[in-house]
Parts: sequence; C-alpha cells; structure tokens
Amino acid sequence: MPCTVSMTVNGKAVSREVEERTLLVTFLRDQLGLTGTHVGCDTSQCGACVVHIDGRSVKSCTMLAAQADGAAVTTIEGLAAADGTLHPMQAAFREHHGLQCGFCTPGMVMSAVDLVTANPSLSEHDVREGLEGNICRCTGYHNIVKAVMAGAEAMQGGTMKAAAE
Ligand code: FES
Ligand code: FES
Repeated sequence: MPCTVSMTVNGKAVSREVEERTLLVTFLRDQLGLTGTHVGCDTSQCGACVVHIDGRSVKSCTMLAAQADGAAVTTIEGLAAADGTLHPMQAAFREHHGLQCGFCTPGMVMSAVDLVTANPSLSEHDVREGLEGNICRCTGYHNIVKAVMAGAEAMQGGTMKAAAE
C-alpha cells in the first residue's frame, strides 16, 4: 500500500509517495536520484549504503523509507559544503588514496565521519574495529585506515599531513 513519507535530505525537505515496503536506499537512489549511496550486497553486510539519519550512520538497506519519516538524512552528496569544498574526511580519502574502485567509498566516508564524531580521539585499532561493517572488495584497507586517521585529525582542525606522519 502506498504511503507518504516526508523527511529532510541533505538539508532539503522532500515528500514523496512510496510503497510501504520501499527501502530507504531505494527511495534515495530511485526517487531522489542520489546514486552516491550504493547497494553492494543483499545481506546488510557491505556498508556501501551507509547514510546518516539524524547524524548517526545507518545502513540504508536495513530500514524502510517510511521509518525515516520526519528524520534528517544526509547522503554522501550532502557531505561537501555548498560551494563544493570537500568534507575533511572526503579530502583525506582523496589525499591518501583511500579507494581503489571507489564503490565502497561513500559508505566508508559516511561511517568514518560518524566514528570520528562519536570518538574524536580514536586509535587505528578503533578505526579498524569501527569499519568492520564496511567491506572493501578491493581489500584496500591500509590506505582507508590511513585516510580515516588523517580525516579525524583534519575534522579537529589539524592538518592531514600531520596525521599521516
Ligand atoms: S547494501 Fe546495505 S549493507 Fe550492503
Ligand atoms: S575501493 Fe573498491 S570496493 Fe572499496
């Protein structure tokens, strides 16, 4: 049965009619055209679909669009500043080559931002543990961890270079 869902997505109010069974990831991709949120599995394991709901990371394939009714959703498209300046975590991924094919990158970045927000002084071990729900099929984890550590530093006003040393 169709229902109407209303939420804020990347700072913009949206309201659409969806089938009750519509997953949030499908809503974002198919109805809003926000295809930066990827679908990499059908088992809720890969984390390519991670977005922020009210500031916390969530696998958008694990919830219904209707469950996000009234929420503030941020996708990878909403992370950079309005003038296009990359979020420090995005800049760190670019700087440290925290990607190979890039398919997992949006989810990695969204999870990493939440990890750092929740624990600004996280260790490399915390990063590895915190990204357990994000799979990079290229297995490029070394640079991803480096990028997250640098991004964490940059989010606190430090320089990425300092974090990498
Ligand atoms: S598509 Fe959501 S965890 Fe893989
Ligand atoms: S960079 Fe290819 S899956 Fe992660």
